[in-house]
Amino acid sequence: MKYQAPKGVSEYFPPRSSWFEHVIWKLEESALAANYRFIETPIFEDTELFARGVGETTDVVTKEMYTFEDRGGRSITLRPEGTAGVIRSIIENGLDRGQLPVKVFYSGPFFRAERPQAGRYRQFFQFGIEAVGVDDPALDAEVISVAHLAFQKLGLTDYQIQINSLGDKESRNIHREDLLSFIRKANFDQETIDRAEKNPLRIFDDKRGEVQEKIKNAPLLSQFLSSESKIKFEQVKSNLDKLQIPYLVNERLVRGLDYYTGTTFEFVHNRLGAQATICGGGRYDGLMETLGGQALSGIGFGLGIDRTLLAMESEGIELKDRQYVDIYIIPISDTAKNLALEMAVNCRRGGFVADVAFGNRGLKGSMKAADKMATHFVLVLGDDELSSGSGRLKRMSDGEEFSVSLTSLVDELRAIL
Ligand code: HAM
Repeated sequence: MKYQAPKGVSEYFPPRSSWFEHVIWKLEESALAANYRFIETPIFEDTELFARGVGETTDVVTKEMYTFEDRGGRSITLRPEGTAGVIRSIIENGLDRGQLPVKVFYSGPFFRAERPQAGRYRQFFQFGIEAVGVDDPALDAEVISVAHLAFQKLGLTDYQIQINSLGDKESRNIHREDLLSFIRKANFDQETIDRAEKNPLRIFDDKRGEVQEKIKNAPLLSQFLSSESKIKFEQVKSNLDKLQIPYLVNERLVRGLDYYTGTTFEFVHNRLGAQATICGGGRYDGLMETLGGQALSGIGFGLGIDRTLLAMESEGIELKDRQYVDIYIIPISDTAKNLALEMAVNCRRGGFVADVAFGNRGLKGSMKAADKMATHFVLVLGDDELSSGSGRLKRMSDGEEFSVSLTSLVDELRAIL
């Protein structure tokens, strides 16, 4: 029996796994630089949390959740996104009773039963941040700036930031009625109308050409924004201008999850084809209340780590294998074998990356392995070296050899590295 990973999951193994790790480090660095703190929430939660939080009529909840009954008969769902769990945790642990805004970041696997294709997986990785408890347009700009800075640190350039305002409840309700009556008159098939009755905004996300053609003149939310929403959106934009972060206002930008209000945004990469959104987010002012907490506002983003890596590859960003070995010890006698690991562990205690040629590959095979591993120094250890107490460190870059005392190997390494 030959086992395969389940269909549509992404996995990372060397050497590409070190690029994946590098991306996460840079993202964390950017979030920490803006004073966000780490949060780890469970991979599975009560199904109800996502149904209520993300929205009963969304594709994510109706079609894409991995839901199962646990042994105690509870309905459990593998998290399809991070915001609902983070807000649940903030409420449950009383973080919203402390200093506001609560600023947190997270990263890990998420699960959606989507049709797999390039850049769309059933298990994928997201890095996200959430800032909860303060309604301030400067915070909206900060959240966008954290993702932008992270992408810049990773060397990405070929993407656009699209932003929109979904307004407040009142403006949305008026727009909703108007848009619905437009859709009802526009001669759509029953399924499309039924979907629109639940959330008419989704129609802007419909990928079918004929649908887009018919809604060319559909009423846009921007025409219905309350003056307060308009002012806030202007402030977000002027904050972004001040930060010299380029953006494009896309009045048709809607998001697939129901909790969004006010500022929403997506980072769209220009070379990724159909799955080009590398980061998406926005404000979600009613979510905390919906989940049983105080009426506090919030904003955040979820950034697709898998797609970010694909975007970096599409831009030809050189992704170096980060793994290196300071010293690779090759024992060539039985006595040396007994000592090699001990010497390597001593080197590790001294702060070096050390490895041993385990098994019986012989000198030639081991030297080949050292070459492949990006090794700085090789130490061949035979009976002669053991009896004299000294050996020769070979520098792999130029072949130069350094005579070293085996008992003070760590100090010798320190002196030449
Ligand atoms: P989302 O737009 O559903 O938002 O997902 C965020 C990002 O995750 C997407 O832009 C994409 O890069 C990545 N992503 C989503 N689904 C997949 C998939 N099947 N395969 C690969 N990558 C995927 C959210 O999840 C919100 N929780 C973001 C947020 C946080 N809004 C406010 N705070």
